[in-house]
Amino acid sequence: MNNGLFITGTDTGVGKTVVAATLAYALHQRRLNFHYIKPVESGISSRDYLETKSDAALVKRAGFLPEPLNEIVPFRFREPLAPLLAARREGIELSGNELSECIKTCIKTSELTLVEGAGGLLVPLCPDYLVIDLIKDLQLPVLVVCRTSLGALNHTLLTLDRLRLEGIHLIGIIANHLTAATGIAEESFLTQLSEFDPITVLGELPFLQNPPSELKAWKKLTGHIDFDKLLRRMTGKT
Ligand SMILES: Nc1ncnc2c1ncn2[C@@H]1O[C@H](COP(=O)(O)OP(=O)(O)O)[C@@H](O)[C@H]1O
Ligand SMILES: [Mg+2]
Repeated sequence: MNNGLFITGTDTGVGKTVVAATLAYALHQRRLNFHYIKPVESGISSRDYLETKSDAALVKRAGFLPEPLNEIVPFRFREPLAPLLAARREGIELSGNELSECIKTCIKTSELTLVEGAGGLLVPLCPDYLVIDLIKDLQLPVLVVCRTSLGALNHTLLTLDRLRLEGIHLIGIIANHLTAATGIAEESFLTQLSEFDPITVLGELPFLQNPPSELKAWKKLTGHIDFDKLLRRMTGKT
């Protein structure tokens, strides 16, 4: 299988899309040929939302991606719910096989594909099929995005444990300061994590006063990710 990266998180709203957009921006700056795919996105209530606010739209703009939004996000649901539930409420029954085959087609036609998951590892995507099952089917290396506030250590260690238990190629984490808080929990997060887990830290994103959505934010955030190391680890060179 060609190169790719699966971006997962310790939860929903931890910054997976922000990280994907920053990586897309960096890849475009380096003139690297890549695709981004958000296999399933919930909460796409209208065409206008898809074109302006969706994860797909944000990353498409950040990485100057030419492909249409319908290809970037092949399965879209209206309600902001876990994908399985959102699909069921629209009378749609997607199978894990259908979902993974659709993404594999995209991966095969690209030198590098960034895949953004939904929520965390154990979010149901299809009947009897969680995000972690999709990761295993795609056989992509995984990047974990986590927050830094109180509780983040537990979520992060649980996520890393589960990935290792499944024998998944884990390339590292990016810690994201989602709020302006600079308490002891936030400041000591990475030191605490390193005491309990040998995970490679590929970046620590600062809190941005204006929620990141445009090029100047992606430019700023790229400076906080060790992009060369990330690429080396993705291709198994370190
Ligand atoms: N470093 C940051 N500074 C400020 N806001 C952030 C930061 N990272 C993420 N956000 C905001 O937090 C929300 C969740 O981020 P998002 O990337 O959409 O998470 P996910 O993809 O994991 O659901 C978004 O509104 C985003 O703009
Ligand atoms: Mg997202």
